[in-house]
Amino acid sequence: MSAPTLERVDLDQRGRAELGFLRSLRGGLAPLKARTLGLLEREGAFEAPFTTIEDLRGRTDPVLAGDAGTRFGAAVLRWAREQTTPRAVAAYERRRDELEPLAVPAGLERFQDRLGPRKPPAYWTYEFHTTTGGWDGHPQMGFVHHELVYRHLLMAAYGPGIFNQRQSVAEAAPRESYTSICDLGCGTGQYTVKLAETYPQARITGVDLSRSELLYALRRGEERGLAWQMVRAAAEDTGLPGGSFDLVTSFILLHEVPPAVTRRILAEAYRLLEPGGDVHFSDVTPYARRTPQQAWADDWDAEQGNEPWWRTAATLDLAALATEAGFEDVQQRGLGPGEYPWVLTARKPLKENS
Ligand SMILES: C[S@@+](CC[C@H](N)C(=O)[O-])C[C@H]1O[C@@H](n2cnc3c(N)ncnc32)[C@H](O)[C@@H]1O
Repeated sequence: MSAPTLERVDLDQRGRAELGFLRSLRGGLAPLKARTLGLLEREGAFEAPFTTIEDLRGRTDPVLAGDAGTRFGAAVLRWAREQTTPRAVAAYERRRDELEPLAVPAGLERFQDRLGPRKPPAYWTYEFHTTTGGWDGHPQMGFVHHELVYRHLLMAAYGPGIFNQRQSVAEAAPRESYTSICDLGCGTGQYTVKLAETYPQARITGVDLSRSELLYALRRGEERGLAWQMVRAAAEDTGLPGGSFDLVTSFILLHEVPPAVTRRILAEAYRLLEPGGDVHFSDVTPYARRTPQQAWADDWDAEQGNEPWWRTAATLDLAALATEAGFEDVQQRGLGPGEYPWVLTARKPLKENS
């Protein structure tokens, strides 16, 4: 067997078989989902426009309550999600000797832990996406997710295109070049890499609450010869110096936090930016921009996928919150099909409003 490399992380046969089975199982649920949508269409649940998501779910949920096919599909999906992280972690552990050198950074000089002994906020300890143990449920969870779950399950199922959206978000920032960029909720650095490629002259700082993801982001930076700094802190309270960035950005962070925290993240972005600096946040598409079918599917998938804040993120008036935080020239737009990802861009005034 060839030595594992970051381009091709091999698993043992059991790991390949288990993740392959989960991938096929999830793929096999597509006809059931299509059947559920067809049932809702036939019952007229999508005929009238919807005013609120509660209004729409008030039409769809009674139709689905007695439908065994929908309940079966939801149960199988939940089981497959619950199996994913434990199976991937076990696959990692069985090959730990070979994989650990690929997972951990050579040095920690570009890592700052600003959270220290303080506990991360309670909302962050939730098992998003049914990730057993949460974002730091294993010391190398960042590697396990990025290289085992994403590569063997998600990318194999959906193709590498699902990660290309990060490139379009990076390119959609207002300026041709930046000197100092802060990526909030950077995770394993998937969007940070796109920022580094798009703005090669910029000094880049990634912020996340997950130690394991930051460690793998550091490792990925080392692989690419990137001198980025990774900081463990809450996006709403980074502790980084104020006025020190000309771009503060994020990719799909906001739907993972309660609305009160989104407000605080905008205030922190404002503080971190120099006068005239840009904020550029991408996240889920507002339900109001979706067809009834799309809005139902988003809301249903979020519910099945342990995404407790998706609905509030998709119904929040983000532009109003940005204005309230002090930003000007607030703009929002969708970049891809179905207006996803949805991007909010705004500027800190050159002169503070008194
Ligand atoms: C869906 S992931 C996106 C990661 C990354 N931006 C990417 O493009 O793949 C959301 C990330 O936000 C982080 N996160 C959630 N709430 C946070 C907060 N309040 N402060 C910092 N990071 C947070 C999570 O730990 C996770 O890494």
